[in-house]
Amino acid sequence: MQGMRWLGSIKRRGWLSIWLLFAVILMGGCAGGSPAEGEMEGETVPDDNLIVVGVSQIGSESVWRTANTASIQRVFTKENGYFLIFKNARQKQENQIKALRSFISQRVDYIAFSPITERGWDTVLLEAKEAGIPVILIDRKVKVRDDSLYVAWIGPDFVNEGRLAGEALEECLKRQGRQEESIHIVVLQGTEGSTSAIGRSRGFLSVAEEHKNWNILEQVDAEFTTAKGQEEMERLLRKYENIDVLISQNDDMTFGALEAIRKSGKKAGEDGDIIVISFDAVKNALKLVEEGSITADVECNPNQGEYVAEVIRRMENHENVAKLNFVEEQVFTAENVRERLEEE
Ligand code: AHR
Repeated sequence: MQGMRWLGSIKRRGWLSIWLLFAVILMGGCAGGSPAEGEMEGETVPDDNLIVVGVSQIGSESVWRTANTASIQRVFTKENGYFLIFKNARQKQENQIKALRSFISQRVDYIAFSPITERGWDTVLLEAKEAGIPVILIDRKVKVRDDSLYVAWIGPDFVNEGRLAGEALEECLKRQGRQEESIHIVVLQGTEGSTSAIGRSRGFLSVAEEHKNWNILEQVDAEFTTAKGQEEMERLLRKYENIDVLISQNDDMTFGALEAIRKSGKKAGEDGDIIVISFDAVKNALKLVEEGSITADVECNPNQGEYVAEVIRRMENHENVAKLNFVEEQVFTAENVRERLEEE
């Protein structure tokens, strides 16, 4: 059985060499002749002993995403025994599907990808399964009819993150003595249909439902980007005069929203006009937690590359692999943020 798998692997890697050689010849004929960004990591034909991993990343929409990509690229190096084929989908599901199909035709050993949204993956994942290529999900999940279409998922507990944000708001309102006051909330959500936006919304709403005095004025998709965060917050500030709280589902949108709040002449923070609760806990946001304009930042741990490598290591050794693998996270407030800032 093991011998069969090994032979299969050799066969796959042989095909991959031929495919890459062919691609290099083709590209040599094109203007400039350089490979598409990040596709071959500067390498032409990989060493047959390396484990070939095809990774499709969503894009570069946020500081968090850049850190997530870096954690993958740090781990899947030649020195560690891997050949990484990395593709950036630039926020388009169709690009991710294309990337997955190219990994299948290249007969990589493993596919790992962070699905932009949960739906629409059944067909391509079935193609991977039929080709005998294990698929590992990073960060976000997929909703498929058959869960055996992927071997494992590694990522954060997004519902819990949302709950933690709700609890942070409860604590802040308690400190302010506003538990009975009518509280007006706006929510900047991440990409519609993504696991992170769905989970964070669900978790926060589960806490909000316990408070009859919390009124959610509007929840709006701001795509996890600074530009959209600013645009939507400007619109919300024009539409509602009484916003007490902003829940912003990532730090990039928060940066944009803070700019909108500043431009409107209002002050963000527990001692200001609008309480701001954010997600991700990237360094520049943690500085704002310390300075007071963000009251709490729920961490989203981007360092998932090591976890993916551990799943692959276990599979190579024919060990059991857990289907769901959660990364560790915490909440940062003015009370504990200094310690984290000093670590970075
Ligand atoms: O899926 C994780 C989310 O995606 C992060 O919170 C956000 O910054 C990213 O773009």
